[in-house]
Amino acid sequence: MKQVVCSSDDLVPGQKRAVQIGLRSVVLVRMNSGEYCALLNVCPHQGARLSDGELTGTTLPADVGEYVFGRENEVLRCPWHRWEFDVTSGNALFNDRRACVKRYEVTVEEGNVVIHY
Ligand code: FES
Repeated sequence: MKQVVCSSDDLVPGQKRAVQIGLRSVVLVRMNSGEYCALLNVCPHQGARLSDGELTGTTLPADVGEYVFGRENEVLRCPWHRWEFDVTSGNALFNDRRACVKRYEVTVEEGNVVIHY
């Protein structure tokens, strides 16, 4: 099944919004690339609303003593205890096997953002 949640230009890159899919709350994110991602709006740690968290980036692999920031607006940080999730996969950055958030497929159809569930 699928549901239209907004117009494709409602969010600018770097914005996020909670949307309702039936009884589920989903956080819709627009990345810098312009693509959309959607995750269940519930942190797997203790249930915080991820849509209340910060959309950010992370440090990238680099040489010793070098710090390179990247993937801006592709990492969602939980507002309660700051676990971080890759919005493209739903996997936690620190341990992707033990903590992940359900991810939903998102398409843009005729100017509308559509979440498949
Ligand atoms: S509730 Fe999200 S990190 Fe604790």
